[in-house]
Amino acid sequence: ARAVMIDCDPGIDDMMALLTICASPELDLRGVTSVGGNVGIELTTRNARAVLGLAGRGDVPVAAGAARSLVRRPAGEKDGAHGDGGLGGIVLPEPPGAVDARPAAEFLAATVAAASDPVTLFAVGPLTNVALFYALHPQVAARLERLVVMGGSIGAGNMTPAAEFNVWFDPEAAHRVLTDPGVSVPTTLVPLDVTRRTGLVDADLAVLAESGRIGALTARALGGYRHGLGAVTPVHDAVAVLALLHPELMTTRPARIHVDAGYGPSRGNTVVDLDPDAGDGPVVEVVVDADVRGVVGALLDRVTRLDQR
Ligand code: BDR
Ligand code: CA
Repeated sequence: ARAVMIDCDPGIDDMMALLTICASPELDLRGVTSVGGNVGIELTTRNARAVLGLAGRGDVPVAAGAARSLVRRPAGEKDGAHGDGGLGGIVLPEPPGAVDARPAAEFLAATVAAASDPVTLFAVGPLTNVALFYALHPQVAARLERLVVMGGSIGAGNMTPAAEFNVWFDPEAAHRVLTDPGVSVPTTLVPLDVTRRTGLVDADLAVLAESGRIGALTARALGGYRHGLGAVTPVHDAVAVLALLHPELMTTRPARIHVDAGYGPSRGNTVVDLDPDAGDGPVVEVVVDADVRGVVGALLDRVTRLDQR
């Protein structure tokens, strides 16, 4: 199985990403790090542990990361899209054990350094912890097999007209990771343009709700996602996990990404240059299209397996 870690801010769709990883025998989850984003760091850390416990993986180590953005706190208020507690109002017990004592960036570095096989890192929250990892431990970061990021947008944003939430929350960190990493890490970006249309319809939520205890709780959490886009409930972060598991369901193009970390109205914007022959900076693989029903089917197939064990 492929060694993976995930940095996340659960978060309803982060929950779906964690469950998808736990349900995938091709992936060997070595650790989870939390970052402040959808809700504060205490809750994202707690929720990460609770979701692992729900999946029967309370043994996976969790380390807490950044409570806030690197340089400048986001302008404006969080909109509470993820409901009370960050998981759409569902309440999950925390598994026994304790949070790893190391800060997320140190835990990431130590785990990647200790791994005998290269680790793929999913980053599905603000990129603060990943930026710190790159800055503090570039030689270790260079050993990553790949970084798969959910974030950014080729077109419109979801927090401002220009900015997607994860990049909006910490543009300096996103700039560091996507535009000027200072370390060579093969990187895939799964932007909002694709994830916002690769969501669950009511019939999918019903399948989940009827699959068993874990599926029912997940469906309830998803039902509390107040970013419903018409008839579609998004599962942004889980689409990033699928991009690794089922690349054949995605169309990917090389691009250069410029993150706007300026202080104007397009702060947090990602300029995606799909003509990477021009310009400089690292080339990132950007998912520009997905087989929506294929991805949703694969996600449901995996997450419903958790109830069949
Ligand atoms: C991203 O922002 C968060 O609210 C979601 O968890 C996802 O990571 C979507 O823009
Ligand atoms: Ca997230």
